[in-house]
Amino acid sequence: MTTSPLATADLPTGLRWDADRSRLKVRDPRLAEIVLRDPHIITGVDHGKSDRPGALPPPGQAPTITQFFELWYTVGEHYHVFNTELRRAFTARTVGGFEATFLDQAERCVTAMPPRGDLARDYLSPYFMNSTFLVIGVPEAEWPRLTKVARLVIHLFKQQLLGVTEYGPREAAAFATSMRYLKQLTDQLLAGPGEEPFLLAARQLARIDPSTWPIAALIGQLLMAGIEPMIVGSSIACRDIWSAPHLRDAILRETVDVTDLAEEVLRQNPPFGNIFRFVSEPCDCLGLPLPAGTIVAIDVATVNLQRTAAADPAHGCPVRPSEVLTFGRGTHYCLGAHSARIQIAAAVRQLVHGRPELRIDVAGTRIDTHNNLKEVRSIPYRIGDEDVD
Ligand code: HEM
Repeated sequence: MTTSPLATADLPTGLRWDADRSRLKVRDPRLAEIVLRDPHIITGVDHGKSDRPGALPPPGQAPTITQFFELWYTVGEHYHVFNTELRRAFTARTVGGFEATFLDQAERCVTAMPPRGDLARDYLSPYFMNSTFLVIGVPEAEWPRLTKVARLVIHLFKQQLLGVTEYGPREAAAFATSMRYLKQLTDQLLAGPGEEPFLLAARQLARIDPSTWPIAALIGQLLMAGIEPMIVGSSIACRDIWSAPHLRDAILRETVDVTDLAEEVLRQNPPFGNIFRFVSEPCDCLGLPLPAGTIVAIDVATVNLQRTAAADPAHGCPVRPSEVLTFGRGTHYCLGAHSARIQIAAAVRQLVHGRPELRIDVAGTRIDTHNNLKEVRSIPYRIGDEDVD
């Protein structure tokens, strides 16, 4: 492996060479802004220049795990068409129409919680699964099976982040079964009576290609993007709320807007530690020569807190949402950012108000920050008087 000249270069303030992972770390908001808008620094695949269009599986067959990730619209040749159509289905106004449904779903999941257990497994996971299925327009009868597909996709995505790209025959077979089901469900949704904004967009997008695999892969992508970071973000918010009684009081007495409180928690603890980019052509946009192929990792928490230090979430977020990098910025700004904010606020609000006797074992809570997407290992809770163990 050749060493990058950046390893020994005199780097400007705000840039650091991460020798262990061979990548350029960006820790300054101004430089982060340049990276996210620079045409030479891209998300991984150069749209339009890629010589590898997302290959469709042969008729009657499911995509392999690698093919499935290559079918995600964000790395596909139709990114711009998909992006434009999907953005219409995820505006603040459109997803705002789901708020009452999210609150209702959160209440159902609060009511179903066992008296003790793990908050991520027993409340947050079912709530975010179900609320995401509602946004996609999936009928309730399909939720149990789709939950299994979502779990598998999330697991494989995390494996990918860890660099695992080889899979055993059992995993590959389970994946093929899940994909066949996902495709059948997709076709059923496209042909069915559902009028959810996502389905209206999906029907337009299904016209581009004779196969509906790209739409099935899109639903698979939303099951990952739309669920796991939300479980992580809301677990962190719940851990912080139950470690500081004044935060819970502020929610109960309604002296803080829960969305604003969660925004500050997520500003300080973004579920995705870094936003990655890739230098596609040599450039000096960051004030020094960057060789093509350089991996650039924007450190989200550092950039978020550089200009405005961490604040007490009981006072909400001290900066405007557009200044927070937790959901990205520019062209690839999170498609689900508006929905994520409403869904997380509904989860926290219903839990705090609906279970005033709930306690979280903060000392026993484990949130692993090793992977780029943080991972909740355990968040034990108990409803009632006994100690949490
Ligand atoms: C707390 C929850 C969430 C966090 C922290 C989060 C974070 C992010 C970030 C940082 C990006 C930008 C990545 C980049 O620039 O490379 C992104 C993009 C994206 N997010 Fe989210 N996200 C969340 C929830 C959601 C939800 C609910 C959805 C479902 C619609 C979603 C769908 C997407 C998609 C499809 C993209 C790619 C957009 C594009 O490339 O144009 N995310 N997200």
